[in-house]
Amino acid sequence: MLASGGGSNLEAILAAGIPVAVVVVDRPCRATELADEAGVESELVEWNDDRLDFTHRVVDALERRGVEVVAMAGFMRILDKPIFDAFPGRVLNTHPSLLPSFRGAHAVADALEAGVKVTGCTIHVAVPEVDAGPILSQEAVPVLDDDTVDTLHERIKAVEHRLYPDTIKKFMESA
Ligand code: GRF
Repeated sequence: MLASGGGSNLEAILAAGIPVAVVVVDRPCRATELADEAGVESELVEWNDDRLDFTHRVVDALERRGVEVVAMAGFMRILDKPIFDAFPGRVLNTHPSLLPSFRGAHAVADALEAGVKVTGCTIHVAVPEVDAGPILSQEAVPVLDDDTVDTLHERIKAVEHRLYPDTIKKFMESA
């Protein structure tokens, strides 16, 4: 798993019994603590303003553990081609919108700003283009009149916590 933040998707994936070989983070964050608590290895690969070099170091951390499928969850770095070459069609991502609407790092705020009445989350195969790639699963989440970015994102995350582990399991079974 690749994470940068709260790690709630990592928590859900661990709780679902999916075998996690390593948690790679780009900064100190709660995901590392969750990995420690679960007895899962973690590795900090520090960002150095060189996307290609950073990607190579992430790939190295994954390959050293014999990783088969890479799952990104709130990983706040754009990765370069080598990870897609090393794990062809096997890098997954969860995104808090119904792609192809609202790509990018501010998907929840952008959906609120656009005034849509329904948004949601998308689990997809990641490709070099950000928040693109074949869609594996999606689920809608209604936008409420009094929603803020935080309240809406929390309801989207609650769906991700069920949909992402389920989708990863199905993906691994069919691989
Ligand atoms: C998720 O909503 C994910 O879709 C988005 O960032 C959030 C990560 O949450 N890209 P967490 O770190 O798993 O709690």
